[in-house]
Amino acid sequence: MSHPLFDNLPRIIGHRGACGHAPENTLASIRKAAELGARFIEIDVTLTSDNVAVIQHDTGLNRCTNGKGPIILTPLEEVKKLDAGGWFSDEFKGETVPTLREAVDLIHELGLGLNLEIKPSRGWQVPTATQVCCELASYAPEDMPLLFSSFDPEALVIARDMMPDVPRGYLTETIFPDWKKRLDDLGCEALHCEKYFVTKEKVAEIKSAGYKLLVYTVNDPEMGKCFLDWGVDAIITDFPDRIGNIL
Ligand code: G3P
Ligand code: MG
Repeated sequence: MSHPLFDNLPRIIGHRGACGHAPENTLASIRKAAELGARFIEIDVTLTSDNVAVIQHDTGLNRCTNGKGPIILTPLEEVKKLDAGGWFSDEFKGETVPTLREAVDLIHELGLGLNLEIKPSRGWQVPTATQVCCELASYAPEDMPLLFSSFDPEALVIARDMMPDVPRGYLTETIFPDWKKRLDDLGCEALHCEKYFVTKEKVAEIKSAGYKLLVYTVNDPEMGKCFLDWGVDAIITDFPDRIGNIL
């Protein structure tokens, strides 16, 4: 039987908030997604050197902040001093890298659902997933829809063991030939894969086997509509407004 979260999963999920419109993985990006009508967002979570879960995609700080070096070697106090918005546009100067807690508080306040992608620095899969689950267990509101995903099987195993009631998606780029075995081994109900590898036949295969399929990153509305017509459960997009408009 499918997890109840999937009964109400919106068909459009904002990627890194609404990262086509605002600096990815910031509170501004989360707010923008809500403003544009998204009801569910995807963000990436990783660790600082002092073991705090923060919202950041890359291992390094250079692309999305005015800092440099690996985030796993940087304490929260230093991470918090960085500007995470100015690289995107002047309008967003002063945005900071949110902690997971700040993001969860805002997501809950806005009434959104959360697809939390566990994105460990390489080698930090177990500590990252463990800390994320410990934190969520202590402060995530029970009524906040939550879906974990990760490219990393080790992180998915930790999430399964620590928060067994939270559904999980296995993130891949290609659709592996043994996708079903992998999902079953990890207890994942959903496959989240890259758009280039999605065909009508694959959608039918995955859906008829009883699994959920989410596709990223789909910014072309026609392509998004086509995937949804084929039976894809949700698409993850940088521009939730574009695809929302066409549906
Ligand atoms: O969760 C979908 C997508 O975010 C996976 O890739 O690199 O954007 O985190 P990435
Ligand atoms: Mg992601």
